[in-house]
Amino acid sequence: MRSAAVVPIVTVDGPSGSGKGTVSRALAKRLGWHLLDSGALYRVTALAAQRAGVDLGNEAEVARVAASLDVQFSEGEQERVLLAGDDVTHELRTEQCGEAASKVAAMPAVRRALLDRQRAFAVPPGLVADGRDMGTGVFPDALLKVFLTASPEERARRRYKQLIEKGIDVNLHDLSREIAQRDERDANRPVAPLAPAADARIIDSTRMSPEEVTERILQWLREAGVMTG
Ligand code: C5P
Repeated sequence: MRSAAVVPIVTVDGPSGSGKGTVSRALAKRLGWHLLDSGALYRVTALAAQRAGVDLGNEAEVARVAASLDVQFSEGEQERVLLAGDDVTHELRTEQCGEAASKVAAMPAVRRALLDRQRAFAVPPGLVADGRDMGTGVFPDALLKVFLTASPEERARRRYKQLIEKGIDVNLHDLSREIAQRDERDANRPVAPLAPAADARIIDSTRMSPEEVTERILQWLREAGVMTG
């Protein structure tokens, strides 16, 4: 673990359904730090491109949409994402949007267009950044890098539960297949493939609750003197 830089950053990377969203949110709350849900930026980009009638296969056009995104994130109990003033929080969570996000996320020009926007989240008192390449690409000097995994069956089960709770109708069998395809694309793309950073700490959360994972990370931060109590 590195010594605390000006703005301490904890990165939490991993595949879909690994629990990184829940854990990152809990960590940010406990630490009183900001939260970056980088996946939401890729999802918003895909949605904005679709709304603008842009072909998702046209890298230059999608990158242009990414560079000029009018997006606002509200933190706190009522997390909301506004695209050009329109509340898209619910729409962003669908698996179709995740699938479209994964397609545009494989494009180098799109990733470049979103880089500064992601780094701008690193403001005091600290940042918890959740995604696929937070530790490997966006915040290589992060204080602590965590890579969260879980078995494919457990990840599909968690995503299913999450979507049903949000009122999004899905079928577990289709969802498992879609998640497997998305992970395959994310792990095998030439740019920023999903992989742990060399200095990441890996947690297999298959048999752990989100609270246990959060507590383990907080313990590492205590040991590093980043937090007390
Ligand atoms: O995490 P979430 O499921 O919202 O991410 C949606 C998609 O965005 C992922 O499947 C991945 O392709 C892409 N993504 C990425 N890099 C990140 C975060 C998300 O490529 N840092």
